Amino acid sequence: MTVQQSKSRAKELIFLKKLLSIYGDLPRQRINTGIINKLYNELLGLITGELACDAGSLFVIDRETGSPVFTAVKGGDESLVGKKLEKGKGIVGKVADTGAGYLAKDASKDPVWMGEVSSGKGFATTDIMACPIKYGNDVIGVIEVLNKKKGMFNRQDMKRLLQLSPHISVFMKYLIDELEQQRFINMQTRLYELSMLLNSNLDTKAIVTNAIKAIVSLVHADVGSLLLVDKEKQELFFEVALGDSEKVLKEMRLKFGQGIAGWVAQQKKPLVVNDTSKDERFFKKADQKTGFVTKNILCVPVLSKGEVIGVIQAINKSDGLFTKRDLELLTSLADQVAIALENASLHEELKRTFLEVVESLAEAIEKRDPYTGGHTKRVVKYSLMIADQMGIEGDERDRLKMAALLHDVGKIGIDDSILRKPAILDDAEFEKMKEHPSIGADILGKIPQIKNIIPGILYHHEWYNGRGYPDGLSGQSLPLVARIISIADTYDAMTTDRPYRKALTPEFALAELKKFSGTQFDPAYVEAFVKAFEKQK
Ligand SMILES: [Fe+2]
Ligand SMILES: [Fe+2]
Repeated sequence: MTVQQSKSRAKELIFLKKLLSIYGDLPRQRINTGIINKLYNELLGLITGELACDAGSLFVIDRETGSPVFTAVKGGDESLVGKKLEKGKGIVGKVADTGAGYLAKDASKDPVWMGEVSSGKGFATTDIMACPIKYGNDVIGVIEVLNKKKGMFNRQDMKRLLQLSPHISVFMKYLIDELEQQRFINMQTRLYELSMLLNSNLDTKAIVTNAIKAIVSLVHADVGSLLLVDKEKQELFFEVALGDSEKVLKEMRLKFGQGIAGWVAQQKKPLVVNDTSKDERFFKKADQKTGFVTKNILCVPVLSKGEVIGVIQAINKSDGLFTKRDLELLTSLADQVAIALENASLHEELKRTFLEVVESLAEAIEKRDPYTGGHTKRVVKYSLMIADQMGIEGDERDRLKMAALLHDVGKIGIDDSILRKPAILDDAEFEKMKEHPSIGADILGKIPQIKNIIPGILYHHEWYNGRGYPDGLSGQSLPLVARIISIADTYDAMTTDRPYRKALTPEFALAELKKFSGTQFDPAYVEAFVKAFEKQK
């Protein structure tokens, strides 16, 4: 070993020692993106110090596209971090592609140099040296250093940087893998959250809106939308449109074949358009109307049993261009959205069918009692008037409607001689009649899906003061639905003809409700009913 060689070896060992001190006890601590960025900066600082120069940049090569990405910048424009260079362009692109180092002693005269990107604004570049960082045969990064403090970069400097590059390579590989793993974990977490969301009990609208938000963030797009198919008209309409343009977009429809979404719907194929200005299929009117600028689009069909039911669009990739990986990811997510949409429509249909069955059942029961024709329907109507006045909505309103429809279902178990008696019932008969809420609850108790409407049926003859039947419940312990049906039921009984008396007038019936407010009825709901009635007038 010559003196020169041993000097150089000693310097290398010193560099390695410094590099190792940057690692510190890293492997034991949890590393995050912030730490990784800091480490890249320290690494670059170490290299520029080692080569005695003013500035430099560290690039990681994007595995998918081969583009060098600014990962750390020293002495220049730090806002460049995160920006991608075009593959193969400039000194850095050339070094990344060829895997060979590059020296430019006078940058301004260099044919390969693209000054504007490598140094940033307000920085005068004199000489440049760029060196590939290889891991095995792959170039995983490029180090570019600028403006040697004394003299110019020369072959000796290049040799030195190449000598250090295996150490730099191991360090960078570690950081790249860490970051990748972290991205992978993040993506898995988000995908998991998304699949939980798609299978959740929220309403369809909330599910698809949140799903589009999650999808947009997964592919790093600025905005996104879901268009659904109007089968009859062969058109697409916006079901979800993120961003400020929602209102305008919702009024817009696209024919099959029109625009990129229309093309995707017609062809049943996904599409990436990375420059909309150069694609004839792009529908300019949407941007003209909203003032939004669509630069690039990733668009995939939502397919159910081979049929297009919708289209998902991710618009404007926030970091570069949409890739094949984004396309694959979005395609697989579209399948999940399809399942969620199918489930939702199945659920809606089931609910509708069930309600229809219940309605016809209620009607069939009513036919046995000739005096109460239309009673059920009116009790439903009055109950919902109270609900709407009180702002009761969603599931609770659905439950009330169902309970009102079925409140007298137990009359099925009451003998005709009692049910159809054209006179006032005697005590024994009345006792029998009082069993109908319990009979109804028993019958419906056998259907698990509607268990939650039973309280409304069982307690619709209870009184607010506890003097009703079957259990003598009172006040707030009485289910809300039962308190409402009780008012609706009594009002209808008073305002229809009975075998033993004529119908009473609405005014009289309302006065009676008020009179028994606080004893038989919950005052708040009587008041709501009266108000709703006045409104209708
Ligand atoms: Fe009843
Ligand atoms: Fe009734």
